Amino acid sequence: MDKIAEQLRLAGQEPLANHFLSLNEASRSVLLRDIQTQDFEYLKKLHSEKSSENLNDSISDDFTPMPFKLSIEDQRLEYWEETGKILLEKGQVAAFLVAGGQGSRLGFEGPKGMFDIGLPSHKSLFQLQAERIQNLATQVGHPIPWCIMTSPLNHRATIEFFESHHFFGIDRTNIRFFEQGTICALDPSGKAILQDNEHLALVPDGNGGCFRALAQSGTLAWLVEKGVRYIFLYSVDNALVKVCDPAFVGALASTGNMISASKVVHKRNAAEKVGIFAFQNKKPGVVEYSDLPEKYREMTNPDGSLTFDGGNIAIHLFKMEGLRKLQSSSLPWHTARKTVCGIENSWKFEQFLFDAFPLLGTMLPFGVVREDEFSPVKNAEGHDSPKTAREMIGKLHREWLRKAGAKINQAKLYEVSPTLSYAGEGLSNRVFERELGKNILEFDP
Ligand code: UTP
Repeated sequence: MDKIAEQLRLAGQEPLANHFLSLNEASRSVLLRDIQTQDFEYLKKLHSEKSSENLNDSISDDFTPMPFKLSIEDQRLEYWEETGKILLEKGQVAAFLVAGGQGSRLGFEGPKGMFDIGLPSHKSLFQLQAERIQNLATQVGHPIPWCIMTSPLNHRATIEFFESHHFFGIDRTNIRFFEQGTICALDPSGKAILQDNEHLALVPDGNGGCFRALAQSGTLAWLVEKGVRYIFLYSVDNALVKVCDPAFVGALASTGNMISASKVVHKRNAAEKVGIFAFQNKKPGVVEYSDLPEKYREMTNPDGSLTFDGGNIAIHLFKMEGLRKLQSSSLPWHTARKTVCGIENSWKFEQFLFDAFPLLGTMLPFGVVREDEFSPVKNAEGHDSPKTAREMIGKLHREWLRKAGAKINQAKLYEVSPTLSYAGEGLSNRVFERELGKNILEFDP
């Protein structure tokens, strides 16, 4: 025990060392479990580096936009879709959901994927994704492995939810849950914060922890064993996500040499709070909204369009070799100064998965239409909320039905079950009449 305390002291954690020694044996062994998950020498270094960092240096002089084309305007779209379906049929594509976040803006107690956005079916975000995966798997005639990253804060609740819903009809052996790592929050002077007497204030290490966690949990090996070569990585809160979109997979496969791809949308306006894709020193990457200086945010082309226009919607695709490389690469740490356990201005550290792109060196931008694919549920009200997600699904599905010739009521919104259609295929007026009130539900805007 003295040795542990000594190591803590050497890493600048005297108060924690003293607290540890003051505990009785039972409490000490509980706290020890948390202490052993952390590298305090590393935290010391991180704190000192971050304390002296000049944020204005974060954008290099060689900073250029990343051009992209909307895939629906590309003649190769059908070919990509067919290619993607062939790869899915061969079992070479898996879904990778990062769901370890705390969802604090939404204010929902529990894993965000359990959230019911208020559709007439009352399906949770997890269920919408599961049913899309199942539909696609049935279309191609091969199961799609699904990796779900949780955090120690929501792991149990996530699994229990899936269990209570019988894994939404997916064979349990095709789903793998694993936890991401955590990192201790520090007070303003760099000392570890205690959550209570026996626990450190451990917070998830950011969605960029996914590459390490995928490998360390044995999930990467599980995917390799299954023969997976393309991994579709996405966030839990996009109500419109086309999980394992075949066209996206086919587009990356057709490039030959690239090892990653990302979906990109046109930014709504300069003020929209999404990260943008750009090149820094010729390397592709994402710059967070808050890190993008105003001059770039507002910059326009001669035709008036935004220069830095490629919005990141957190849908990425990696070839297996990319993930192999990333499992041991060190992504940069980002910091947030927040109140933690009542201590104002504390340090929280996070890694972001989009920092993988500069490390990989290449990335294929795949332009998509926001209304078809991106409706994040971030806030309880206002923009990017359950209400906006309901409306976007309602309008998109109404459009699917209209195009299929269904006699819909234009004043209403519709919810088409993903068990019936993955992306608008297989619909007609006959199907509409048969399924209305069952797998097609009408609702008011
Ligand atoms: P967000 O950046 O929206 O964070 O995550 P969040 O934690 O869900 O929500 P807020 O900011 O507290 O309101 C984007 C995606 O990254 C995952 C989230 O679960 C979401 O799918 N994520 C985030 C992780 O998997 N781990 C993390 O440590 C953070």
